[in-house]
Amino acid sequence: MAEDPDGTDRRLSPVVRVAPAKLNLSLAVVGRRADGYHDLHSVMVPLGLADRLSVAVAPPGADTIRVVGRDAGPAADNLVLKAVAATRAALGRAVEAVPLAARLEKHIPVAAGLAGGSSDAAAAIDAALAAWGADLVLGPSELLAMRRRIASQIGSDVPFFFVGGPAIVTGTGRTVEPLPGLQGGAPGVLLVTPTVPVPTPLVFATFDQPGGGPASSGVRATSEHLGGEFRRGLSASALLQRAGVLASANDLAAAADEVVPGLRALRRGLTRLLGRPVGLSGSGPTLWVLYASVSEAEAAAALARAASDDGVILAPGDDPPTVIATSIQGGPNVGSDPGTPIELSLTRQRQEEESQP
Ligand code: C5P
Repeated sequence: MAEDPDGTDRRLSPVVRVAPAKLNLSLAVVGRRADGYHDLHSVMVPLGLADRLSVAVAPPGADTIRVVGRDAGPAADNLVLKAVAATRAALGRAVEAVPLAARLEKHIPVAAGLAGGSSDAAAAIDAALAAWGADLVLGPSELLAMRRRIASQIGSDVPFFFVGGPAIVTGTGRTVEPLPGLQGGAPGVLLVTPTVPVPTPLVFATFDQPGGGPASSGVRATSEHLGGEFRRGLSASALLQRAGVLASANDLAAAADEVVPGLRALRRGLTRLLGRPVGLSGSGPTLWVLYASVSEAEAAAALARAASDDGVILAPGDDPPTVIATSIQGGPNVGSDPGTPIELSLTRQRQEEESQP
């Protein structure tokens, strides 16, 4: 492990990272690739809803993880441990990559279309590099390239989380164009997640079946149009005006409805209850509704919880749905979470590197 120039040993203080959830405002499946993956076009935004990862140097032995909060499944499958192992392998002998003890406070629903596991992995890559003092040994561009490589290796959604703001995500999800933040405020978001974990591969496999495909050929155009509007400086209020179009701009919606019986009925129920467009994030099953502020989203959350308790809306799953009010983190113009792993400027630099021949 590297020491700071002043001789300080970093092992004394744990490294803490905030790992935000993401929301797909649009999601177009633009093609199927020979390797079975799908090419996408999506506008993604980070949310205030976040996990919190803390990483400390551990006694000799294996890396460990302790999860508090939501059940995140078996520790052996946790992407945090995979990300730490991949980061150690990528560093080789460059630093002394001692064992790490991770503590994950889980707030983001699991297998919900919010990419919580991928965000935890991005945070873990960043935290491991910091805990081992890799920045004292490797130059900034080497570090950025390494982060990019490890992130792509772990999963399609991981590279997005190094942006720290909205982005257009294309290819298999690993090509990320940072976008300016929303102007004039951070819109509120209501998230309703049925307690039915949905494996992404199953939704894509259903999408590939006859009849599972895009509900509308216009989703790609909508997604590209939204990306263009963000590039030119979209305001929070203009985004809200587009909620109706965006709520139907997810090519995986029909497949998710097939995988999760009752999801379509819940969506209709919420639309009736709240009188607003209801969209689907990623491969689901999380449904989203946009509001002008977090307090409006909180009021809607109270309404949705009461309606669920009273049986006015019915959600699939054995337990009542998870209902969360949060906000869109707009990026630099709105003030992204200070714990966001990597600054936008560094990601821009990374993009430039990528575009070099
Ligand atoms: O890359 P990741 O492991 O997150 O992807 C999980 C699964 O989702 C893949 O195995 C694949 O079935 C599906 N997928 C896809 N096209 C993408 C992203 C994911 O088909 N662009």
